[in-house]
Formats: sequence, structure tokens, C-alpha cells
Amino acid sequence: MARLLVVDDELNMRRILGAILRGDGHDLVEAASVDEARRAFASSPFDLVVTDQRLADGDGLSLLASCREVDPTVPVVLITAYATVELAVDAMRQGAFDVVPKPFVPEAVRAVVTRACERTELLRENERLRGQVRRLAGSQELVGDGPEMGKLRALIARVAPTGATVLVSGETGTGKELVARAIHAASGRAGRPFVAVNCAGLSETLLESELFGHERGAFTGADRPRQGVFEAAHLGTLFLDEAGEMSLGLQAKLLRVLTNGEVVRVGATVPRHVDVRIIAATNRDLQQRVRDGLFREDLYYRLAVVPIAVPPLRSRRGDIAGLVEHFLALVAGDLKVAPRSVSPAAMAKLVAYDFPGNIRELRNLIERAAILAAGPRIEPEDVPLAAAGSPPAGGDGAGIERLVAELPDPLDLPAVIGAVEDALIRRALAAAGGVQAEAARRLGVSRSHLAYKLKTKGGGPASA
Ligand SMILES: Nc1ncnc2c1ncn2[C@@H]1O[C@H](COP(=O)(O)OP(=O)(O)OP(=O)(O)O)[C@@H](O)[C@H]1O
Ligand SMILES: [Mg+2]
Repeated sequence: MARLLVVDDELNMRRILGAILRGDGHDLVEAASVDEARRAFASSPFDLVVTDQRLADGDGLSLLASCREVDPTVPVVLITAYATVELAVDAMRQGAFDVVPKPFVPEAVRAVVTRACERTELLRENERLRGQVRRLAGSQELVGDGPEMGKLRALIARVAPTGATVLVSGETGTGKELVARAIHAASGRAGRPFVAVNCAGLSETLLESELFGHERGAFTGADRPRQGVFEAAHLGTLFLDEAGEMSLGLQAKLLRVLTNGEVVRVGATVPRHVDVRIIAATNRDLQQRVRDGLFREDLYYRLAVVPIAVPPLRSRRGDIAGLVEHFLALVAGDLKVAPRSVSPAAMAKLVAYDFPGNIRELRNLIERAAILAAGPRIEPEDVPLAAAGSPPAGGDGAGIERLVAELPDPLDLPAVIGAVEDALIRRALAAAGGVQAEAARRLGVSRSHLAYKLKTKGGGPASA
């Protein structure tokens, strides 16, 4: 229900309007003069103003003008015993919502108030959505003024309109998906769907049906036909995230679709034609996987028509300050608070850090700091970092050697491995802000594997 300001110098009139509108559940504030109404309007927000035109100290139209200065969207309804065509025209021109002639029947007042409230509701909803769109657009923006980002933007601009298949590679959290979205947005397919599918973490059967769809009865549980992402992305872009994780069997099927532009739903015989641009992403060295016999060479060359490598954040530290500001503004928008600043010491700490989780880690860190920081400025203690400069675990032989050198000998192998595992899981969960799916990705294991670990370890790290 709405909050209304009712203005009339006759007590009797305010009582009648009050009875009608309070009866409809509205919340009313009454004012007996223009001056009283102005003060009420300035001190708290209203959804609607209903005012008599002739008042002892002025008129409804001048009140309308001053209300509009405070809140340009507020509807003002004039009530008058002198309803002339001139007054009506004048009132409308000045932005009145409607003019109700006196004497009126209760229904007339109710109807106009209901319409006005609906309009206010729509205007505010519209404003809220606009804000959301602005924030969404903001969070899709590729930030960074350094030479690497400049090259990346130029490459995106060049490849986007061509429709060529692109393979985006880079460490976790470097912005591969953002790059894929930017390519789509700058292409002729921008108005069409961008569909993302993660090729890791699904069993081969589930991923096949996710990609190509299935017919009713294709397998147990397939109780209705379902469209796959290839069909869903028709005329648009399909983003195959973590494409390197696909099984060899599925790679063969994918290659067939890419070669002839036709998908066959699981359990179907008739192929369907699709027109889809493919952008694939991987945080693995796909060429190494080809050499290891884990990825088809022919598929690799189909996907990597244009390879785009997104550099890790530690090799473009010059972008960190801009990114920090960008993320601070985004959280401030979400929380509707003034953006915080970052102290020079905290910024220095961030710039020196290696960010194994890249931009995603930076973003999580800044969001957390913006919410939790005690003061208006983010200080070094508000950005707790994993031991700065520590080597990324896994794949790094030297790092493992260093770790091993510090362990006692003899030792209890299962206990040490368990402890290392616990610590790594805790670290991943912390960096992922408690999101298990994300922690699993950081650890290079499936979500179900991580969930299993957490369950069997019992009393393990808290998680979302
Ligand atoms: N250049 C950038 N400017 C602003 N935000 C960025 C930039 N790059 C990445 N981000 C933000 O960082 C986060 C991670 O980006 P994204 O999801 O695209 O990474 P990714 O490479 O796909 O990661 P993963 O390998 O883990 O899937 C997102 O919130 C994204 O909006
Ligand atoms: Mg991604």
C-alpha cells in the first residue's frame, strides 16, 4: 500500500478523503496548508500527493512544482471545485497526474489514486531494472589499460565479426568467459543467445545429452525430449568451457557436429541443422594433452582456428589498481553504499601478490574487504592473502620439491597426505568464498569428488 500526502485546508474534506483512502489500506499524512505540505514532503518520501487547488496560503499547482523539485516522479492529483478546461490543461501541462472535480464520488478518487500508484510502481521498477542492467553491463566490462589488455581487446575486435572458432586459454580466473562474452557481444550474433556449458564435472552420458539433447526414452529418466545447448545456441554462440576435459568419445561426436553442422539428439536418428559459433576455453595446455593422447589433434585444430591466450594477472600487475577500483564500484552499486577507498599500503600489498586465482581471486578479495573493512578505507589487514609469492601448488615440480624438503623423515605418509589435502581444500574453499563448485575447480577435481571428501573428512572445513 502507498504512502499518501493529503492536502486540504478544510478539516471536513481531509476527513472524507482520509476515510476513503485509509479504508483502501493507504498510509496517510494530512496537511492543512501549502507550507505544511512542503515541509512534510521534504522530510520523508511519498508515493502520491492529493491536493486541493485553492488553499489559504497558495495553490495546488505551486505545491506540485515544489514536490517535483524534490521527487520528479511523484504523481500529484489536484482536487478542485473550480474545474475549468483552462485549469485542467494548465495542470496537465505542469505535470499533474489528474484533476478530480468537486464534488466527487469516492469511486472517482479511489480509481485515480490506484492508477497513480501503479504508475509510480512501474517507474520505480523501471529505475531498479535500469540500475541492474547498468551493473550487469559494468560487470561484463573488460577492465585494464596495460599493453596486454590492449592487445587482447584489439584481437577480440578483429576476430569477433568473422565468426571464426576461437580457443581461449589461460589460468583459472583470468577472464576467459568474459573474453568469450565480449567476442559474442561484438559479433553479428550479439542479439542471439550466448549459451555456456561446462564440459568438466558431468559424466560422459550427461554431457552428451547436455550438448546434443535427447529424445524421450533415450535413457532411464529421459521422460521427455530435451533440446541440447547446440540447438539452444542456434544462430548465436556456444561457449564450451573447460573443453579439454571432454572424453575422447565425446570429442569424436563434437568433431562430427563441427564438421557438418548437424546434431543428433541422443536416441534420435534424424539430424538437426544448427548454425552456431563455437568459442572454447581451457585452463590446460591442450597441445600437451594432444601429445599425451588425451585430446584429438583434429579437434584441436578445429577449435584453435584463432587461439587467444589470456595472460595471468601477475604478468600484468599494472592492471590491478584499475581492477580494484572497478570491483569496489560494482560492490558499492550492489550494496548501495559509497565506494570505499584503498590505502596505499593495502594497494602495494595487492600489487605485490601473485594471485594464483587471478582476477576472480582479486574480485572475491575486494568484495569481502569492502563488506568487512572496519573503516572507510581498506587497509592491509583487510586483505588477508595466502603467503605472498608462494608458488602455485601442483604441476610445479620445484614447488613440490621445496615442500617435500621441509617434511620430517621418517614420517606417517597417510597422515601427511591427509593433512596436505585438508590444507589445500581449506585454502581453495577460502579463495572461492566457500562456493564448493568453484573450490572444486581450483583443486582440479569434480564437485562430487570434493563433496565426498568433505563428507568423509567430517567436521572438515565449513562450506556453502
Ligand atoms: N579484464 C577484466 N576486467 C574486469 N573483470 C574481469 C576481467 N577479467 C575477469 N574479470 C572477472 O573475474 C571473474 C573471473 O572471470 P572469468 O569467469 O571470465 O574467468 P575464467 O578464466 O573463465 O575462469 P575459470 O578458468 O575459473 O573458469 C569474473 O567475475 C569476471 O567478471
Ligand atoms: Mg570460466
